[in-house]
Amino acid sequence: MISADSDEPLHVLDLPQLYTKPSATDLLKALELLAVQPRSFGSSAHEAVKRPAVQPAGVAQYLTSIISSSLKWLESDELREAVWDAAAARLSERSGRAAMPAMSRVFNIPASSKEEFTLTLHEPSLTSDNLGNKTWVSSYLLSRRLHNLLESTPQLVPATSTTQKDSSTLRALELGAGTGLVGLSFAVLRGALATIHLTDLPAIVPNLEHNVKLNTELLEKSDATVTTGVLDWSVAPDPLPSQDERYDIILAADPLYSPEHPKWLVNTIKRWLSRGLDARVVVEMPLRDAYLPQVQEFRSRMGDIGLAVVEEGEEIGYDDWEGADGESVEVRCWWSVWGWSEKI
Ligand SMILES: C[S@@+](CC[C@H](N)C(=O)[O-])C[C@H]1O[C@@H](n2cnc3c(N)ncnc32)[C@H](O)[C@@H]1O
Repeated sequence: MISADSDEPLHVLDLPQLYTKPSATDLLKALELLAVQPRSFGSSAHEAVKRPAVQPAGVAQYLTSIISSSLKWLESDELREAVWDAAAARLSERSGRAAMPAMSRVFNIPASSKEEFTLTLHEPSLTSDNLGNKTWVSSYLLSRRLHNLLESTPQLVPATSTTQKDSSTLRALELGAGTGLVGLSFAVLRGALATIHLTDLPAIVPNLEHNVKLNTELLEKSDATVTTGVLDWSVAPDPLPSQDERYDIILAADPLYSPEHPKWLVNTIKRWLSRGLDARVVVEMPLRDAYLPQVQEFRSRMGDIGLAVVEEGEEIGYDDWEGADGESVEVRCWWSVWGWSEKI
């Protein structure tokens, strides 16, 4: 039972643990304690609302484990949604505050059925920045799938193969690139056949640039051209991009975690995707119960602007956030390739 009377910061293990199948009320109370807001000051010490601070270590994992859980022991969908919504809100509030140490990670990505290459990515401490400073499971799955997708989708190969960058070189864009795993994998796989521009919010781009530099040797060996820059989906560029400025391929992994994201993301795709019938959007995202409405909205908005699924599938990955019981959390992910429907 959580006590709000103590001034001692709680430990995350003092909060209700999922393996004990806590009630929605207990979970919501715990999530309320994790709200990032100033203590309120009353006119006397007695009136002041005491809010026990929770030590930041492990809080992001705790919240992610709630979002990843089916919460199937709770009595109704409404209760499940209330808990997921509260956990999602806490995660975005705290994404700048969760104590995760900075680390460099190594990812092995297949280049074919026999060969693979290694990317090194820096993930700054999550104490100072936000969600894009971590590499998420769907970007890992999409990076590992890319070589197959590139082989099975002729549109992702330029009409004339060449080792020189010229007008037949494909132009690719990654939205919400985070640490850059998908875009850098694409760059290595396509080499001189494509250029790629990795984009994200201003707070994320410095680390993205750093990660491009960390992999310079491999990128040079692959003859890849990678640039980085800010591209905020909520802002419409003025003037709007011309057909020449648009991209042949748009990539995105795990881009939906707030109610505005489906609309912003699809508007951004509409602005930046080339109008050619060969243009493709390649996305992968986790099917976390808490975010299913956003995934549905993304699908229907993509259809509304005239894009149709060319190829799609589901696969299982593992979050590197541990669940409440210390096990890796299984995550079902949906990947899809989209093109303009010939009907429009
Ligand atoms: C869950 S992270 C995924 C990062 C990376 N694609 C991965 O899968 O590892 C979502 C990314 O979307 C970015 N993002 C969120 N809102 C955005 C916006 N309005 N414009 C551009 N990027 C945004 C975040 O900064 C973050 O990098």
